[in-house]
Amino acid sequence: MRIIALLCLSSLALAPFTAQSQAPKAQLATPQVSQLATPQVVAQTPPMGWNSWNYFAGRVDDKGIRAAADQLVATGMKDAGYVYVNIDDTWEGERDASGVLHANAKFPDMKSLADYVHSKGLKIGIYSSPGPKTCGGYVGSLGHEEQDAQLYASWGIDYLKYDLCSFIGDVLEKQAPDDKPAQMRLMIAAYTKMDKALKATGRPIVYSFCQYGWDAVWEWGPAAGANLWRTTGDVTPDWDRIYAIVSQQEGLEAYAGPGHWNDPDMLEVGNGKLTLAENRTHFTMWAMLAAPLLAGNDLPNMKPEIKAILTNRDVIAIDQDALGRQGARIYSDGEVEVWTRPLSGGALAIAVVAVGDSRYSTHPFHLNLRKLGLAGTQTGKDLWTGNTVKLTDGEPLELASHDVLLVRVDQPKFTSAAIFR
Ligand code: GLA
Repeated sequence: MRIIALLCLSSLALAPFTAQSQAPKAQLATPQVSQLATPQVVAQTPPMGWNSWNYFAGRVDDKGIRAAADQLVATGMKDAGYVYVNIDDTWEGERDASGVLHANAKFPDMKSLADYVHSKGLKIGIYSSPGPKTCGGYVGSLGHEEQDAQLYASWGIDYLKYDLCSFIGDVLEKQAPDDKPAQMRLMIAAYTKMDKALKATGRPIVYSFCQYGWDAVWEWGPAAGANLWRTTGDVTPDWDRIYAIVSQQEGLEAYAGPGHWNDPDMLEVGNGKLTLAENRTHFTMWAMLAAPLLAGNDLPNMKPEIKAILTNRDVIAIDQDALGRQGARIYSDGEVEVWTRPLSGGALAIAVVAVGDSRYSTHPFHLNLRKLGLAGTQTGKDLWTGNTVKLTDGEPLELASHDVLLVRVDQPKFTSAAIFR
């Protein structure tokens, strides 16, 4: 039903725009609120795809986006669920006399690029800021929100990442110096404004807030239209940063659900000097957190072991579980943490993470199933080896530094206390 509804929505929404060329004129009509399209149904599971920033940053161009789309198909990532090809910052050129924004020379024809990405069965995303400038110093959307939303829709854009950046210095600090509550209201108004502009296009567009988790965005983001919101500052391909971000997600699990997700930032799997164990743990924890899975690596030069991590269907199924409940840290012992995530059909994912640099007193680590609300031995699947495993209360587990054990238990046996919790 939902798929049919979406198809109808997108074909209706596209109709007014199909004849538009790359740069639509400023006079594109903005529908009145009463004419707004049916509310969009997007991001029912955490969005999956690829984004240009983490590896290519300012080197992204039309050719690179086409190559990424080709690789998503060739590597099987598309079949595994990665559908969004997202252009991050540095695509923007200048506005013309009518205020219409044009892409810069790296992107000669956005409409044709979007058509190319769509022809592969993929979707395309773009980036802007509510401020006058993006984080990279390119032109932002301030004062041109409706015009930009119409422009994106005319190109066929399916996803917008909206990054606070210069809105801080140029708007918040100028209009409401030293008045944090007023600044928060201005920020919410700016995000809401773009939400209305996107919805007015009638095109289903995933709306991603990038304001680094300020002012408890998880509390007001969904009402301002967010399908996902960054919960922290930027990720880097470095274990300490990745683990710090994971730790910052504690307590946010209540805010995630179909259509609205916590976003601990894009994936660094395959980037920098992350070890194989670190890449595996990073990917595991993003799945446990019901996080968007936006790969950020160099797809044309991806190593087979990185592809194996990114396309592990069992782990992706944890991330994409229809129940949409984010996992939580249940307990830690020394430098080992145990997280669980409830899954549809009564199943449970258990992740045991060796977060420390060395083994210390918890080696070997003894798993306490009762603390997880589980009674007796549990049979499950180790999602990184594919083996069937039996988890016994108190059993010793040996994990290498920064590595993870991820087990899916389809029929967990809960203690009566856990059942009635
Ligand atoms: C900010 C965001 C990043 C990226 C850059 C682009 O730092 O948090 O994810 O989009 O801007 O300039």
